[in-house]
Amino acid sequence: MTQAITYWAVVPAAGVGKRMNADRPKQYLELDGKTVIEHSLSRLLQADVFAAISVAISMEDPYWPELGISTHSKIITAAGGKERADSVLSALTAIAAQAADDDWVLVHDAARPCITAADIHRLINELKQDEVGGILALPSHDTLKKTQGQDILGTLDRSHIWRALTPQMFRYGRLKAALSAAAGNPAVTDEASALELQGWQPKIVEGRPDNIKITRPEDLALAQFYLERQIRTTKS
Ligand code: C5P
Repeated sequence: MTQAITYWAVVPAAGVGKRMNADRPKQYLELDGKTVIEHSLSRLLQADVFAAISVAISMEDPYWPELGISTHSKIITAAGGKERADSVLSALTAIAAQAADDDWVLVHDAARPCITAADIHRLINELKQDEVGGILALPSHDTLKKTQGQDILGTLDRSHIWRALTPQMFRYGRLKAALSAAAGNPAVTDEASALELQGWQPKIVEGRPDNIKITRPEDLALAQFYLERQIRTTKS
């Protein structure tokens, strides 16, 4: 008998978010009456597909234990690492006893609170038969310039350029091996890049443009707008 495939979520949440210039890491800033990370985790729980969500938290983080959601039965807390990839690897290691190599893992940034269950389900449905897995992404609508200082060296062909979002969906065993092999490599800024370095070719699945990452102070107002609009459109 073949074993059923389980879906796990991993949420790296151990960053400090310097570009926000705030008094606390960006995942703990308030958005529509809750913290950013509570929105992100609630959306993952609402998708109703994950056996558990492994969340990587900095050891010095005083905010996480204060949140009710940190003791939710489906949430596992892992120790964050120096870089995002270290945090993801630690969150994967925290579920090693339960997860099988062929299980799917969806890695989602704590700082993307507007993810919808519909996008999560679409990613899973499009990739669950795939050999490697892949990521939500958005086509680039801007013209992109390659530069050196203030000089433009050339213009990239934007028809082949996509912006990587999360979730990013890969097999547990392969993702863990790729991130372990990529340890300390500054070029690995997402999970897909770690697999690419191993010679795999992840797929893209077009995501919704409102799945923004909170990076700068003005992003909070934009996220608030998107959350309200999503609630209005699901009610109508
Ligand atoms: O800084 P950036 O927005 O790229 O971070 C993306 C996600 O990775 C955030 O949710 C952040 O908390 C997380 N992260 C982490 N460990 C680090 C650095 C970032 O979990 N060392």
